[in-house]
Amino acid sequence: MSTITRGGQMLRKTVLPVIAFTLCVLLLLAVSGTQATATMSSVATSGPASDARKPLPALERPASLTDKQWLGKQLFFDTNLSEPAGQACAACHASQVGWTGPDAMINLGGVVYEGAMTGRFGNRKPPSSAYGGDSPILNFDTTNGWTGGMFWDGRAAGLTLGDPLAEQAMGPFLNPLEQNNASAGVVVDKVKQSQYANLFIEVWGTHAFDDTEQAYQMIGRSIAAYERSVEVSPRNSRYDTYVGTGNGLTAQETLGLSLFNGKAQCDKCHSGQDFTDFTYDNLGVPKNPINPFYSELAFNPLGASWVDLGLGGYLKSAGHGVSVYEPELGKFKVPTLRNVDTRPSAGFVKAYGHNGYFKSLEEIVHFYNTRDTMPWPAPEYAANMNTREVGNLGLTSAEEKAIVAFLKTLTDTKFPQVKQKLFLPLLAR
Ligand code: HEC
Ligand code: HEC
Repeated sequence: MSTITRGGQMLRKTVLPVIAFTLCVLLLLAVSGTQATATMSSVATSGPASDARKPLPALERPASLTDKQWLGKQLFFDTNLSEPAGQACAACHASQVGWTGPDAMINLGGVVYEGAMTGRFGNRKPPSSAYGGDSPILNFDTTNGWTGGMFWDGRAAGLTLGDPLAEQAMGPFLNPLEQNNASAGVVVDKVKQSQYANLFIEVWGTHAFDDTEQAYQMIGRSIAAYERSVEVSPRNSRYDTYVGTGNGLTAQETLGLSLFNGKAQCDKCHSGQDFTDFTYDNLGVPKNPINPFYSELAFNPLGASWVDLGLGGYLKSAGHGVSVYEPELGKFKVPTLRNVDTRPSAGFVKAYGHNGYFKSLEEIVHFYNTRDTMPWPAPEYAANMNTREVGNLGLTSAEEKAIVAFLKTLTDTKFPQVKQKLFLPLLAR
């Protein structure tokens, strides 16, 4: 066993970094290419703001969508709601990738996506924008600890609107590292001039645009309605068929499911119909050293020594005392596992974890199994690490494979095919 595993480790330590480095160079070349085109097109479209508006992608309205959900869909895919225009929510949450990042090259490297402003990056991997609708308002309960909210660190707590998902949707439009609009008023004005402005009034009433702050909240609520719709969160995977009928999974997949709920203890955190209990944990995921945020000094004065403090960092910034935030430092929200394997083609790389350190399901499952028994790199934040349920599971390699096979059954069988740029690696074409 050890020779094969050591061979695997060698491969990880030597060959993979070389491949990763080569791909990064290619990525840089690709990015500089895109910048050139972006500059050219902005010259071509410069002039009054209204002329710079971009045509929206052709969207379909399935009969199942309510008016509010249809409005939310148009907002989600509207590339005019950024500054400069060109970046919709879908730029970082594409349906074909399980509503996560659509660029396999980025996923293979830093995993953080560029905002509407060239050269500005956030600091975390885009999680799925689907299946977050059941997350409660962020709260502390003595059995489960902190539960609920949106984002990896829970900072869209849900206290303002009573709905964390709607509150989350109000964040990216104004985030300088994402869609970069100067104010809520700017976004509301853009919606007022959009093709779907009449629908906005039909859904939210004739006075919908009168109060800017109210209108901005309605934008958030409409997007949340779409994210909860049967188009985005359909729960129609092979696993769901199996739950409904008792059929449709292979022997390996059912073995994976029983390990998931048994020996591997995955269901201790990935529980319920969407495979998350919305709690927070520090798994000891290593740093992703090529996160571009490390060199973004204007937004990150700490540079390479920056550590993502997760929930604890948010609680500290929200004014909680040290006894409250200290035990939560380094913890991240348990993500949904629905569509973890959804990808446009077999060779398309997806990344896993808050910083995208892991590049395959095989790798992250191997980490859960062997964090404490194999030489993994140091955790990004060592304190508060979960040592009860994670790190030394004693799974055989066949059992790891069965768990991965089960995770692949969580891919929805139907999702909207909206035309958008998906960046496939050359090797996989
Ligand atoms: C530039 C890329 C980018 C854009 C554009 C973007 N997002 Fe995100 N999204 C992210 C990242 C990164 C995170 C995680 C951030 C964090 O946790 O701090 C995230 C988190 C989320 C989450 C939270 C999921 C969870 O489980 O907590 C939802 C929902 C979401 N985005 C929806 C949207 C919507 C709606 C829009 C448009 C209004 C949008 N995103 C625009 C990158 C992006
Ligand atoms: C103690 C709670 C806990 C247990 C047990 C647990 N997970 Fe997780 N899982 C998490 C948390 C928290 C994250 C995010 C961690 C981070 O990014 O730092 C996560 C992330 C993941 C991801 C990445 C998803 C994404 O979108 O990035 C996968 C896949 C996953 N877990 C699968 C599993 C499997 C399979 C098992 C069982 C072998 C398991 N988890 C056991 C809490 C848990």
